[in-house]
Amino acid sequence: MHSFDSRAERTLELAIDYVRNRLAQEPIPLDHSATLAELLVAAPGLIGEDPVDPEIVFEQYESVIAKAVISADSERFLSFIPSAPTKASCLFDMVVSASALNGTSWLESAGAIYAENQALRVIADQAGFGPDAGGCFVSGGSAGNLSALTVARDVARARRGDRARMRILASAEAHSSIKNTASILDCDIVPVPIWHGRLEGDALRAAAAADSDPDTICAVVATAGTTNAGIIDDLAGAAEVAHRYGWWFHVDAAYGGAGLFAPSVRHRFTGIEQADSMIVDPHKWLFSPLDCAALIYAHPNKAKAVHTQDASYLDSIRVNDAEWNPTDFAYHLSRRARGLATWFSMAVYGLAAYRDAVESSLKTAAQIADRIENSPHLDLICRPDLSIVMFRRRGWSEAEYQDWSMRQLEAGTAFAMPSQWEGEPMMRFAIVNPRTTLAMLDEILDTLG
Ligand SMILES: Cc1ncc(COP(=O)(O)O)c(C=O)c1O
Repeated sequence: MHSFDSRAERTLELAIDYVRNRLAQEPIPLDHSATLAELLVAAPGLIGEDPVDPEIVFEQYESVIAKAVISADSERFLSFIPSAPTKASCLFDMVVSASALNGTSWLESAGAIYAENQALRVIADQAGFGPDAGGCFVSGGSAGNLSALTVARDVARARRGDRARMRILASAEAHSSIKNTASILDCDIVPVPIWHGRLEGDALRAAAAADSDPDTICAVVATAGTTNAGIIDDLAGAAEVAHRYGWWFHVDAAYGGAGLFAPSVRHRFTGIEQADSMIVDPHKWLFSPLDCAALIYAHPNKAKAVHTQDASYLDSIRVNDAEWNPTDFAYHLSRRARGLATWFSMAVYGLAAYRDAVESSLKTAAQIADRIENSPHLDLICRPDLSIVMFRRRGWSEAEYQDWSMRQLEAGTAFAMPSQWEGEPMMRFAIVNPRTTLAMLDEILDTLG
């Protein structure tokens, strides 16, 4: 198993062929989901005491398992938040997998961390963070939110000098992981009223002024690109309130942070530069493969004071204080150096290509919103801030949306699942793939006629 034998040679050939074909597919088919019963029949278990030929296992993967996965990088994947990794990022991720990198500490992975930090710096610069900013890559937005808000809670508790139950100000449109984070951290959420899906400075100011125990609030969370609607909260207003009260200001830009690269919408993010922490997920709209989220603190030393793990066997990674240990900035220890795929891709294509790719999805979203506005049987819910377009088919019930979505998936024309807006069913297109074209979306809209 640990020598490069004929089994490894054969697997390499199969893997290279597969990867070449998968990455060269145009268009990328959506594929489909499957029931457990179907999978049990189509792909009987292959793991036993004795070895199985790699060809047989690979064949099962290629013909059954891979096909029972909806391709998040298909240009027709419009549900949830899709993924649109560059070819170079996918290929470099293979290099990372083959290299047994443990991106925990500078001692173990100085080179990898050095390169990852360059990619973090690019994102921090787009947001306008200061020279001290830094952090690490974690597995996703949920992990980033949890890690950042753990710091917020502990900073507030340290200031109070006790372990009081703390509270987090957030809107109902904040991502579900914020609620989970609050529960894990034993915090309560103070819901801030929203105006058409947006958290506004005035509402936050009023909530803060009306609060009878502001000392138990540890953080304000604003979202730069809500998951359902793609709305950017009033970040400048949120920053002003948070800082006036001495609360931590966290910006969840997991999806929308890519918009920082686009001059046409950059002004909507004003205020993000005042955040104490932010997350941006390259595995969403910054063209890296899953799983990859950038977690950045304005003052990483505050995170270090909270997340550093203390064990005698780890003393050797802390000999030099100037060395950057990604383990110190989130709740993790061992860590895949997942940011390397982002680093490689940004370098290979250049940031201008990133800017153009983000702008292209913004343009497609605006154009399809125009079409919807001009359609006699569709209603646009609001103009998109970013690249999520919400609309309704007049007169349709939830069941009709669901039905339509399943038919599109079966036909391979779209993976667009319905959602809810202000208590009513609606359809949404989430566009992060520059290969999702207006013509393609037009065709999909025609089926709603
Ligand atoms: C705004 C926002 N925050 C956090 C998350 C959670 O990210 P992940 O799924 O990578 O944990 C999402 C996911 O869609 C999101 O849209």
